[in-house]
Amino acid sequence: MSKRPIIIDTDPGIDDALAIAIALFSEELDVKLITTVAGNVSLDLVTENALKLLKFYEKDVPVAKGCAQPLLAEFVDASDIHGKSGMEGYDFPEPKTELLLQEHAVNAMRRVIMESDEPITIVPIAAMTNIALLFALYPEVKSNIREIVMMGGSVTRGNKGVMSEFNVATDPEAAAMVFNSGVPIVMAGLDVGWKALVMPQDSEEIKKMGKVGDMAYHLFKHYRGGSFNTGLKMYDSCAIAYLLCPELYTVEETYVGVELNGTMTTGCTVVDLKGYLKKKPNAKVCTDIDGEKFREWFKQSISRCI
Ligand code: RIB
Ligand code: CA
Repeated sequence: MSKRPIIIDTDPGIDDALAIAIALFSEELDVKLITTVAGNVSLDLVTENALKLLKFYEKDVPVAKGCAQPLLAEFVDASDIHGKSGMEGYDFPEPKTELLLQEHAVNAMRRVIMESDEPITIVPIAAMTNIALLFALYPEVKSNIREIVMMGGSVTRGNKGVMSEFNVATDPEAAAMVFNSGVPIVMAGLDVGWKALVMPQDSEEIKKMGKVGDMAYHLFKHYRGGSFNTGLKMYDSCAIAYLLCPELYTVEETYVGVELNGTMTTGCTVVDLKGYLKKKPNAKVCTDIDGEKFREWFKQSISRCI
């Protein structure tokens, strides 16, 4: 069976680093392109981090640099969670700069999508600024996109604002444009991210699983997405897990809107599970995950890396 072609849009980012590794070393996915966007840290830093990861993983995937700012919102990073560099805790090799395309991420995505013989799956694990611009500038790409499988949003509460998740809160307007694009979307939000945990004993096992496992262990020591002792949240791996192990999830098809004008709730994903808004469903929302099975899946996936 041919591998599923995907594009990962990312802001590495400690949890991004592991999600990217799992995708690259899986038998089922063909990562055609990695695009970067400002989020956890600045665009320059997340791009450098993506190139460092590809050097470390020994994988030659083209990288295209995207947007340095959200469409309208003021840019606020998450260096408090991921460290100043965005991947604090491990001494990576130099970035593989020869993988960096001269094209802007939006143009590179358009080229890869339109050249593909098979519809492409887009995997945003960051703010969706690049994706929103892609649809605005090149709506023809929608005809060759299988679906969007994103990490972001929340059915319940936030991790950036009271009701807003970081990726959506970083660029709410972009998220609204993507949810309104008509392209099939799968949303893996905080409700599953909070249960997608690496526990201390998992970290000790992972440490012995080769150089990626050792790297993960050292990054985990610095990662503030949860706590080393009560569980670290592997948010971005939830999107990859949907592609590779969808049976982990409970999924509900419903309407998702993005609040843009709330004085206290801007960036909130309004997940209308009961249909109060009487709008056509526009997303499959992962409302639950089998946390124990995720832990096993995650460790097995890391064990397949170098
Ligand atoms: O809310 C979690 C998301 O924000 C993850 O993608 C993490 O990497 C940060 O970007
Ligand atoms: Ca991310």
